[in-house]
Amino acid sequence: MTPNARLTWSSNLETGIRQIDLQHQELIEMINELEAAYLDGHDDNALNRLLPRLTTYVVFHFGTEEGMVRKFAAGTPHAEHHLAEHGKFTLKIAAMKEVGSTDKHSALGDLVEYLKSWLLEHIMKTDKELGKTIRAQRAT
Ligand SMILES: [Fe+2]
Repeated sequence: MTPNARLTWSSNLETGIRQIDLQHQELIEMINELEAAYLDGHDDNALNRLLPRLTTYVVFHFGTEEGMVRKFAAGTPHAEHHLAEHGKFTLKIAAMKEVGSTDKHSALGDLVEYLKSWLLEHIMKTDKELGKTIRAQRAT
């Protein structure tokens, strides 16, 4: 995937945990909507409506995953790493509130690119690793 391509769901993003995969599909939809608003120059809609909605969903989604981390991977290096990645992402979104009005459009563009690459990388490595751990324990 090239850096500017729109995110699309595909089976290679599957973690094997249905609840997580469905939430990831929802997140991808929301990031795509945010990107579309940015590209159309609808910054107010992106910042005042879509970003708060995405933020709320991210809190819910991270809550789901972190519950699974605590249940299936408590005290492991994975747990520490996984939570740290979620923390970074949350801070990045929160920082958008501090951006001055003249820089908003370019900051929004940077944020969209960050969200896209973070999500893909996080799913491909960290969430898949969690999925594997959960599936291994469910199988026993
Ligand atoms: Fe995660």
